[in-house]
Amino acid sequence: MPQHFRAFVVTVVWTLGLLLLGSVVHATESSLACPDWPTCFGTMLPEMEGGVFWEHLHRLVAGGLILMFALATWLAFQATGKGSWIRVASVSGLFLLLVQAVFGGLTVIYRLPDAISTSHLSMALAFLALATVLAAATSPRREARMPLAPKVRDVLRGWGLGALILIFLQSVIGGVVRHTDAGMACPDFPTCIGVWIPPLENHLVAVHFVHRVVGLLAALVVLALAWKLARAGAPSFVRRVAHAAAGLVLVQFTLGVISVFTVLAVVPVSFHTLGAAGLVSLLTLLTTWGRLGPVREATEVPGSAAVREH
Ligand code: HEM
Ligand code: HEM
Repeated sequence: MPQHFRAFVVTVVWTLGLLLLGSVVHATESSLACPDWPTCFGTMLPEMEGGVFWEHLHRLVAGGLILMFALATWLAFQATGKGSWIRVASVSGLFLLLVQAVFGGLTVIYRLPDAISTSHLSMALAFLALATVLAAATSPRREARMPLAPKVRDVLRGWGLGALILIFLQSVIGGVVRHTDAGMACPDFPTCIGVWIPPLENHLVAVHFVHRVVGLLAALVVLALAWKLARAGAPSFVRRVAHAAAGLVLVQFTLGVISVFTVLAVVPVSFHTLGAAGLVSLLTLLTTWGRLGPVREATEVPGSAAVREH
């Protein structure tokens, strides 16, 4: 099994763990437990207790991810030829991670501005998607699995991409809900302040309500994707991932409702972030499969003449 593929898979799993940990940092109100950055109380080895435990652990695991992805990038350079898009994507990912670490620091230095905290979540999801594309594209099983039937590809390129965009958008809206403290703006469910359509002049109610509506739409599109793939006769490895996404979106919706009923308890809200990340990763995998051709063709980035990949 190619080493760079393994390293990209480990990166995906690591990022999922880091996203969960980041969410716990916020949910346990540990975000400013370390008042400085990049050190914590002037040292890299502070007393790991209370909020410092979560915040500093998040930083250490983030540091580990940067090292892990740097190794993956180096391995990808060994395995691919000059001009390969895998190289370009890996270096972009490394850059994104560094910017992400700086944004993590800025959240601390500027005492959690909403826009920076929400960008920190959005970039975490964007990096996860990029790592997933790299893992899918370097998989040794690709040769045997590709190309997919044109009908299946069309569904993946249309509905798959649509579902991914909607889930990503919904997650960014979720970040806004969280960071503007709109999580309890609708304290009931399925109604919001006792009515089906609440007055939207209050922007906290509006953003919370939009999160519910887009969540419902996104869930329906993910379910439709699984159904369309089954109808198009997709092979079992594609259907398995689509079914996992369909199951996860139902769990995710339920976790959102439980978050409201438990007044934003740490466990449901943290797994609500992880659920969104899992969906982004699964839908990215499906969308990537819709775009990948057999191994040699896949190196051709639109508009580029690159040919070699492995
Ligand atoms: C050393 C660099 C980093 C620092 C100092 C840092 C710091 C923080 C802080 C303080 C929070 C809480 C923010 C808040 O309450 O608004 C947080 C949350 C989070 N972090 Fe980081 N972080 C770093 C790197 C990363 C990386 C590399 C990732 C992922 C690729 C990541 C993913 C997240 C996520 C997903 C959250 C939760 C965001 C949310 O709840 O909306 N962090 N981070
Ligand atoms: C496909 C469906 C959904 C997705 C992908 C999704 C995603 C997200 C994400 C990514 C966040 C931000 C977490 C963070 O910043 O770390 C969030 C926040 C939130 N979501 Fe959802 N969500 C969905 C459906 C729902 C539903 C149906 C509800 C409620 C009925 C809900 C209630 C909430 C609440 C209350 C928060 C704020 C949590 C907090 O303040 O800590 N979500 N959502």
